[in-house]
Amino acid sequence: MHHEKVLETHHYTDRLFSFKTTRPASFRFRSGEFAMLGLEVDGKPLLRAYSVASPSWDDTLEFFSIKVPNGPLTSRLQNVKEGDEIILNKKPTGTLVLDALRPGKNLYLVSTGTGIAPFASLIRDPETYEKFDRVILTHSCRTVAELAYGFDLMKMIKEDEMLSEIVGDKLTHFTSVTREDHTHVGRITKLIDDGTLFETVGEKPWDPETDRVMICGSTAMTNDVKGACERHGLVEGSNARPADFVIEKAFVG
Ligand code: A2P
Repeated sequence: MHHEKVLETHHYTDRLFSFKTTRPASFRFRSGEFAMLGLEVDGKPLLRAYSVASPSWDDTLEFFSIKVPNGPLTSRLQNVKEGDEIILNKKPTGTLVLDALRPGKNLYLVSTGTGIAPFASLIRDPETYEKFDRVILTHSCRTVAELAYGFDLMKMIKEDEMLSEIVGDKLTHFTSVTREDHTHVGRITKLIDDGTLFETVGEKPWDPETDRVMICGSTAMTNDVKGACERHGLVEGSNARPADFVIEKAFVG
């Protein structure tokens, strides 16, 4: 188990916050993977799966978390401050990795809520742009305020000289909200089914020849988007057997 120091925290809404920590020299991961992270409570480790939101080349680690009222871990974790200690398991793992997908033209990263975290890592990894011509990040939340982490991320990429050169115009950010007004209103599943997503980004509907999809969100969301992938003829992949789409459930409890 690694013991790491919190470097900064950012509270987006009463339900969402992000934090950065030091990174142990021996902590290696592939962009998109998750690790078990948490706090020591009454002398015992209390851990949950957290996607690493920072890219694998970064020398700090970043995480994006929900705050669950009365959640055993997040009710405590939301109070961490600069200088506090978190614990981190040694071995990151996961299926939202480039190695689990066959080569393709367009990469769709479909997220709801904190499910954007693994994609925050992948869209800052140069390898993503070596492998795909276009990367389309979709982020859907209840409210516009909950989209802020994604907007900050896009701004950060644009302002980073090296990264913006690598990314160029390959990255598209598509957002929707379900509980108030916004450019696109509705669940991502609806916006896939009625063609809004594809019309907006200027692509044809998913096709196993060209399109690859990664999905991260709640259990219901991942199941429903998986259904949409399968209706378009895409096949689920894994580390052992790369294919057209991969899934991971965002930590929600
Ligand atoms: P909704 O407002 O209709 O529940 P949460 O914060 O609860 O994880 O939700 C994040 C976003 O995911 C919300 O916009 C929510 O819409 C949406 N969502 C919830 N269930 C599904 C589902 N089965 N398929 C697609 N989107 C979903």
